[in-house]
Amino acid sequence: MEIVRLRCSVLSLDRRDRLVYWPDALLTLDGGRLGEARPLGRGAKAPRGVLDRRGRLAIPGLVDAHCHLPQYPAVGADGGELLPWLRRNIFPLERRFKGAYARRLSRLFFSELAAHGTTAAAVYLSVYKEGAQAAFEEGARSGLRLVMGKVMMDRGSYDTDFTATHPRESRPHASLRESDELCERWHGAAEGRLRYAYTPRFALSCSQGLMRAAAAEAARRGAFVQTHLSESRAEVAAVKKAFPGARSYADVYDKAGLLGPRTLLAHGIWLSDAERRAVAASGAVLVHCPTSNAFLASGIMDLPAARLAGCRTALGSDVAAGPSLDLFEVMRQTVFAQRLAAAHGLFKVPSRATPLKAFAMATVGGARALELPEGAGTLTKGSPADLVLLAPAAYDLFGPAADAQTALARLVYRGSRAAVRTVFAAGRRVWGRL
Ligand code: GUN
Ligand code: ZN
Repeated sequence: MEIVRLRCSVLSLDRRDRLVYWPDALLTLDGGRLGEARPLGRGAKAPRGVLDRRGRLAIPGLVDAHCHLPQYPAVGADGGELLPWLRRNIFPLERRFKGAYARRLSRLFFSELAAHGTTAAAVYLSVYKEGAQAAFEEGARSGLRLVMGKVMMDRGSYDTDFTATHPRESRPHASLRESDELCERWHGAAEGRLRYAYTPRFALSCSQGLMRAAAAEAARRGAFVQTHLSESRAEVAAVKKAFPGARSYADVYDKAGLLGPRTLLAHGIWLSDAERRAVAASGAVLVHCPTSNAFLASGIMDLPAARLAGCRTALGSDVAAGPSLDLFEVMRQTVFAQRLAAAHGLFKVPSRATPLKAFAMATVGGARALELPEGAGTLTKGSPADLVLLAPAAYDLFGPAADAQTALARLVYRGSRAAVRTVFAAGRRVWGRL
């Protein structure tokens, strides 16, 4: 792997979650890590062999902790609320995720993730092992860091009637066996960049037995678990009906053993304080997906309550319920939705949403959620060389920003894929030109 030395601006958190802005800095990408990451003094000359990229701003690679690859062609297609949308817009697409189509779509999807400045993601596939296999192969080729899994659904799969009280069981053993085989093959592959996530879709598409077995296998293999939790009111009501013995939605997962520090729970909007405490105690991560939550009219997650309970948090695009893979947009909508909800008195705990909190969720929050290597989500000496070079001129007409807060606010309020120029993951250029 070639050594790349860059002179550019840097905006990042440091290892103690403090914001750092270096208008003129030196970054050395060496063997997948940052060998050097330091500011240059005023009037300093860069050492020889350094690529002069003054005018570019380096930020840590963004982490999308929740998205659905096979759904990408459905982005931006309006279709009502969660349950009808799944049946009408999503399941027909996920059914097609096989063969050459799955491979083509996977290649496009990973290239799009990188193009948006995302270097790591937790990704749902569809129920088919064959399509998942293609996605992992293309994921390995992409150079990105990916936590992925075949979706598990043993309640009639794509024919599910979510409101049925006695759903039809189908292929629970095959679902588990295929997940095990994929985990065996891919967990830790591509120099550790690929990891496996057991992916019981959500409580409404899984039997208690399947969820239990998935939890046990994931724990035994050190793999991740990803699922959806408490996204829409209709979903919560249906879960209550389908699992009359459970105290709450989170309790369904808790009883199955699905909650733990390697568990990624998307949404968590309609949670009680007791559920938040259970999630926090388990170490599971709540993945906030504000663009999706607006698109499907699901609701506004109470982030202050989640924080107060001690829940770990990250951000997700939730494509295709989120209309784009752009985490700049997801950061922006995090701040906007939280501010509006607070203004309307929807939250019990007073708290001010800021660009810094959203940026932290999209970088270090996501990196910790996905257990990326030490230092990931920051641009500090020794951290993984996962970074994005932006052209801030694309969004900052009055720059360069004089201070860290301004640089960050402009990034979060005005940044987008249009500013992304070059993307590195694990020290390799995965998108754009240098
Ligand atoms: N809940 C169960 N499946 C899905 C899905 O594919 N997208 C979203 N947003 N929520 C879900
Ligand atoms: Zn989702």
